Amino acid sequence: MAELGDRLHIQTLLARANTPQNSDDADVVIQGLTQIPKTLPARFFYDDAGSQLFEQICDLPEYYLTRTETAILKDCAEAIAKLTGSLELVELGSGSSTKTRILLDAYAHQNLTLRYIPIDVSAGILKETAQSLLQDYATLKILGLVGTYQQALQQLGPSTLPSRMIAFIGSSLGNLPPAECHEFLGQIAAALQPGDYFLLGIDLQPSVYKSKAVLEAAYDDAQGITAAFNLNMLRHLNRKFDGDFDLNQFEHVAFYNQERHQIEMHLRSCRAQTVHLKSIGLTVDLAEDETIHTEISRKFDLDAIQAELRSHQLETVHIQTDPEHRFAVVLSQIQEH
Ligand code: AVI
Repeated sequence: MAELGDRLHIQTLLARANTPQNSDDADVVIQGLTQIPKTLPARFFYDDAGSQLFEQICDLPEYYLTRTETAILKDCAEAIAKLTGSLELVELGSGSSTKTRILLDAYAHQNLTLRYIPIDVSAGILKETAQSLLQDYATLKILGLVGTYQQALQQLGPSTLPSRMIAFIGSSLGNLPPAECHEFLGQIAAALQPGDYFLLGIDLQPSVYKSKAVLEAAYDDAQGITAAFNLNMLRHLNRKFDGDFDLNQFEHVAFYNQERHQIEMHLRSCRAQTVHLKSIGLTVDLAEDETIHTEISRKFDLDAIQAELRSHQLETVHIQTDPEHRFAVVLSQIQEH
């Protein structure tokens, strides 16, 4: 553990066997590109360029998710702080902690003690963000954990404050298929004690308030940033596996799958072509118009997500949407295991 002053500690978590993130990248790529339909895991979006493109997506006029969640948090942060009192705030996938500052402000405003535990795979972002937070919040203590969500949830010790709140905002839960989502929520519940809290941000299904067109535009913007983000996965794989994907020969496809309540992103092959990933000895034939499925982004129904949370003993204590019912923030509290 590296000590960077008595208010900040950064700890790198150890990998444990058999978590999805630890499975060999090469095996996952070989498996995904040799099956029908072809798939690639969304985690390959996030090399440095992909992370920067995602930051740009969050600022796009069409990508309402970030600014809507920010507005909701601004609206309900004081109520959440009042409800929970002092606590240890564990944030999964903290990144630059921009939205978290809204919560930190509310707890500071009510003179509540907070210990912040941001979790991120990038040590650089974690350290940089933590240092800037320490300057802005005079009494805040931070323990930054470098690792995956699964590692962090398995390795979190008992809370040093009377209660804990795990925050998973940004609608990243939507990037997990239902079975993985259920398992993940189980891991979150297991890291909580009775009375602890879980704060979740989720994007909602189309409704009378939000059209399918609004949803689809959020994943296929006019400037082509989301297309560049999707295509960048191929550039990432070229670099990682000495590959020869020609990015000009693929196009971005995004649509709302109404039956599964999810946006799907694919890369469509513009012509019949053969691609090689030399360092893993893989040759892949793609037919014209054949697609590689790169991401799902599930959209939630408020009753269904609360029922899912309840199946993990998480009872809703506060729920808030924006006036247009696009997005929701749900605070739940864990009952006896
Ligand atoms: C990270 N995640 C919540 C984003 C989403 O909306 O599903 C990823 C994304 N993919 C395309 N645009 C944004």
